[in-house]
Amino acid sequence: MSNRIKKVLVVTGGGDCPGLNAVIRGIAKRARKEKNWEVWGSIEAFNGVLNEPQHIIRLTSHKTAGIHVKGGTILKTTNKSNPLKYPVIQPDGTVKELDRSDELVQKIRSLGFDAVINIGGDGSQRISRVLYQKGLPIVGVPKTIDNDLSATDMTFGFQTAVQIATDAFDKLVTTAESHHRVMIMEVMGRDAGWIALHTAIAGGAEICLIPEIPYDVNKLVKRIEARYTHGKGFVNIVVAEGARPVDGTVVARAGEKGSEHKRLGGIAFQLAQQLKDAGCKAEIRETVLGHIQRGGTPTAFDRVLASLFGVKAMELVIHEEFGKMVALKNNNITYVSLEEATREYNFVQKDSYLIKAARGLGISFGD
Ligand code: F6P
Repeated sequence: MSNRIKKVLVVTGGGDCPGLNAVIRGIAKRARKEKNWEVWGSIEAFNGVLNEPQHIIRLTSHKTAGIHVKGGTILKTTNKSNPLKYPVIQPDGTVKELDRSDELVQKIRSLGFDAVINIGGDGSQRISRVLYQKGLPIVGVPKTIDNDLSATDMTFGFQTAVQIATDAFDKLVTTAESHHRVMIMEVMGRDAGWIALHTAIAGGAEICLIPEIPYDVNKLVKRIEARYTHGKGFVNIVVAEGARPVDGTVVARAGEKGSEHKRLGGIAFQLAQQLKDAGCKAEIRETVLGHIQRGGTPTAFDRVLASLFGVKAMELVIHEEFGKMVALKNNNITYVSLEEATREYNFVQKDSYLIKAARGLGISFGD
């Protein structure tokens, strides 16, 4: 075995997520056992490499000690600097997208890195796949509160988001009951209903609206009315930000300059209006949880999953198993190819047991 010091570059990209720091610490701790590996981090996704001056830091034990309990990412992140479509603002204010992937690969090489670990969601893993095809030795780690990556049974951050949403839901139940109100709580999740569905089951919602099952507002009104006898009653609704009525569209606005995603959000208010228009007599209040779901300390489960992912990613690097993404499958930490990792979006399946069980618990999806 050569004693040459090797260097791995760690990157966190896309939206932040509780557990990112636990992955970084897992990588650093596993690498330290090898003696000949140094761990470095690029600040703000690949911008740390692409920008001049570059911003790359050595992840010493001092930097990573105890960070697994901390939310966010010590490496910072962005969802507006995809190296394949790098947004460059023109003098007239328009945005031109440049493919900077060759430049990125060349810069990472000239910095002397032997490997890269890219921690991110589906967008980030698509970038990993292209960089791997261009010859970069890269390993992916799946991250998202949305749980929308199909190649892993679960992503870290998801459990924390569900816990935060459930805590908020529990609080809304008591006030709904006191005032005989309909409480609508909007949660994140993009085009998938995982956070909403888990929160609805955990909290005991009467109604759960998810992107995979468009809702009929008249059916919702009937369901609400059935809960109000002699003017008394209350209803708690969880709605995913990507939900929509059968004859409508999602509530979204354009993202900021350079962002590839539309910004979802606001369905709670639209739903309240739709319910009133359809004859709902009860008082309605809306709560949009927003980025609270992504902040703060990861749950114990997410710390464990993230730590295991970090250790596994470093082991793949040590064994030169590149072009892979670590994954949780059947209670085992394993890996899939980056191709498989990015093949399918992880929608909630309408005929899944989770949906059947939710219906069994009396939860209405408005269908
Ligand atoms: O993908 C994670 C997520 O929090 C989604 O649930 C949400 O739609 C989006 O990111 C919000 O993105 P931003 O942080 O750019 O507002």
